[in-house]
Amino acid sequence: MDELLADPAVAAGLRRVETRMRRLSGSSTLPGINAGAGHVVAAGGKRLRPALTLATSIALGRPPDRRVITAAACVELVHAGSLVHDDLMDRASERRGRRTLNAELGAGKALVIGDFMVARAGLAALTSVSRPVAEVLAATVVELAEGQFLEASELFDPGRTVDSALRSITAKTAALFRAGCLVAAICARAPQEERARLAAYGEKFGLVFQILDDLLDLTATSAQLGKPAGNDLRQGVYSLPLLLADVDVRDLLGRPDTAEEVLSRLRAGRMAEITLAYCRDLAADAAAALPALRDPEMASLLRALPAAYIDRVARLTLPATTG
Ligand code: IPE
Ligand code: IPE
Ligand code: MG
Ligand code: MG
Repeated sequence: MDELLADPAVAAGLRRVETRMRRLSGSSTLPGINAGAGHVVAAGGKRLRPALTLATSIALGRPPDRRVITAAACVELVHAGSLVHDDLMDRASERRGRRTLNAELGAGKALVIGDFMVARAGLAALTSVSRPVAEVLAATVVELAEGQFLEASELFDPGRTVDSALRSITAKTAALFRAGCLVAAICARAPQEERARLAAYGEKFGLVFQILDDLLDLTATSAQLGKPAGNDLRQGVYSLPLLLADVDVRDLLGRPDTAEEVLSRLRAGRMAEITLAYCRDLAADAAAALPALRDPEMASLLRALPAAYIDRVARLTLPATTG
């Protein structure tokens, strides 16, 4: 991931994306909305999804133009707005080292500021990029809502299956990674086959990303995460790593007071190794999905990206679970 974000062309594009996001998030007639959305945008984040849009464009032989920059900004605004809603759903009080909008302004204002950000992204995509790009974004927001709904429907459900967890994370997270790649392919007028391959790459990478986020929640320390470890478990989210684990914790699921015991059982087993191996298969699928691309350097960066991210998480995770 660092390789992607540190690439000079991607980094230069991201600076323009940042400017565009600030303008869009400050475009309400109501200063209070601009302040709230501005607070979220200024808190930053890795900007991984817009970086994927920029890298895809470059890989296709098109240095990002104004439309690609706006498309990338729209993708990230949808992400940021959806996190406002996610924090509201989770009653989280901190994200990216700052107070969340729900903690700062209350649920009602956080809800509508999240709405503003997501809708503003859709409007900008329609007016300043293209109708097909706006369609992709709108369809992605539909999926995002469905993915979050599925997760909310299965909280504390001891019968949650690998398939239902996969369905939820494909919709809530992988769909936006997919969109990040696809909008660049659409802007570049890439042929259908290339679009489908780049979309598949984004989706597989998005799955890897969410599964590793879920793994870290179960294995990393609170200090590494910047939030209490085991949060998903306490909220009742039985994520893929737990469902794939070699130790049976079903007897402890279904209630919030067993979280610590579930964590220690999971950490004593091989959950991290199993999850990392699962992700390595997905990363290989992602790399295999990539089409032949015009820019060989950016193509190999994209190809190596999911596996490099897995290696980084493995370094964080394995000493803590085996030592
Ligand atoms: C957080 O995404 C939500 C997940 C899909 C796990 P990121 O980890 O990309 O969040 P930021 O934007 O860098 O804060
Ligand atoms: C990401 O999932 C939420 C969305 C995709 C909107 P998480 O719930 O795992 O994200 P974090 O862990 O709060 O960042
Ligand atoms: Mg969350
Ligand atoms: Mg998480």
